[in-house]
Amino acid sequence: MRVAIIGTGYVGLTTGACLAFVGHSVSCLDTDECKIKALLAGKIPIYEPKLEELLDEARHNLQFTTSYAEAIPGAEVVFIAVGTPPTPSGAPNLEFLSQAARGIGQHMNGDFTVVVNKSTVPIGSGNWVGSLIREACEQRQDGSAPEFAVASNPEFLREGTALHDSLYPDRIVIGADEPRALEVLYSLYRPILDQTFNPPTYLERPEDVGAVPLLSTDLASAELIKYAANAFLALKISFINEIGLLAERVGANISEVGRGIGLDSRIGPRFLSAGIGWGGSCFGKDTSALIATAGEYGLNLPIVEAARKINCRQRDRVVEKLLYELKILKGRMIGLLGLAFKPNTDDLREAPAIEIAQKLIDRGVRVKAHDPIALEKFRREHGTMGVQLSENVCEVAEGCDALVLVTEWNEYRDLDWEALAKKMRNPVILDGRHALDRDKLTRAGLRYVSIS
Ligand code: UGA
Repeated sequence: MRVAIIGTGYVGLTTGACLAFVGHSVSCLDTDECKIKALLAGKIPIYEPKLEELLDEARHNLQFTTSYAEAIPGAEVVFIAVGTPPTPSGAPNLEFLSQAARGIGQHMNGDFTVVVNKSTVPIGSGNWVGSLIREACEQRQDGSAPEFAVASNPEFLREGTALHDSLYPDRIVIGADEPRALEVLYSLYRPILDQTFNPPTYLERPEDVGAVPLLSTDLASAELIKYAANAFLALKISFINEIGLLAERVGANISEVGRGIGLDSRIGPRFLSAGIGWGGSCFGKDTSALIATAGEYGLNLPIVEAARKINCRQRDRVVEKLLYELKILKGRMIGLLGLAFKPNTDDLREAPAIEIAQKLIDRGVRVKAHDPIALEKFRREHGTMGVQLSENVCEVAEGCDALVLVTEWNEYRDLDWEALAKKMRNPVILDGRHALDRDKLTRAGLRYVSIS
């Protein structure tokens, strides 16, 4: 099938690469010329494991362009995967979405085009996008009125494992009020639903993956599923962090508690890792948008609100723990291990490290930081913010009064902790992710402290 994708961020590029890989002809459109130039030269503007390889393998089915006139005509399915960054009020900025809708309305020309909202958009956006496309169609000089329908196909991929999540998803959700649109999307996703494609050698199909469940539903339900899924994951994490606070007081081990409750198949083991809480562009923005939508209907969402409050509290707990260990923070030197909001990405949006660094700086602490991938991006987006950045963990540890593990990159698990302890002025390690081996670190001469 012929597909156009508007937006070449994490969602757009991953979707484009996967659909091209399974055999569709995909045109990726972005109005940012730099991004398209880079993509045409075979470079990807984001860090996502194996994406470069997959794009390369699917290159014969991919086009990159900045032009709506090139990408849209003839496309049977057009995905909108543009950014919807948060505004100060918490509601998402829909400017890029509306530009995309107008561009589609001006250029589509097939017998029947399915326009798919893949970006996380507020509930009701399907109807709104439909009206913008219709308006743009009415203003066309050629007088044509091409047929189209709007669908929602929420994205559940996680950064860092985006390709795996897209090729081997837990489920695919499609929502539309017109059955014809659902049929088109069913055909589009068939190779993934039936798992009929040959997996790339570097992204093997897990043994337990069978046919992928498809949920076909109406537009509003699909839109709400996306928000409800993210809110539920966020509150699962906040729940374990709330229990963690109590665990600490009663002397229980929160990792064991998480394991113990997660073995109940009704609860499930994932997203129960306690620590400094969630970051990233999704959970914060989506929980805030969900609360804003509920507000429009005169409703409160106290559970979602509590999940957000608990998440903020976890960042303060880092400072409290350090204060307890070091007694005085002013004039101390503290090293952060990890800047990205989670491992295997260079994404710094709502990264806990940034909030923690700022809180420490405000208290007169000198902050150093290391990250295996995100240092350059941090410099670009935040200057240095007064943080001393280093590509070398040893350099970060030198003279520190404490190290804080903020992002659980794999390489931090096997550091030469004995050597690092010797470099520190005060060998305290605060494990913000329950990722390190307490006994090993204690043997290496560090005082191990965790956030539970
Ligand atoms: C999240 C969802 O997991 C995806 O399903 C969804 O598609 C995506 O948002 C989105 O809306 O685009 P993502 O933000 O990429 O994906 O990352 P997650 O793996 O969900 O992690 C989010 C944050 O939660 C990270 O800061 C992570 O460190 C933290 N986390 C995760 C915990 O603190 N504890 C856990 O047990 C799991």
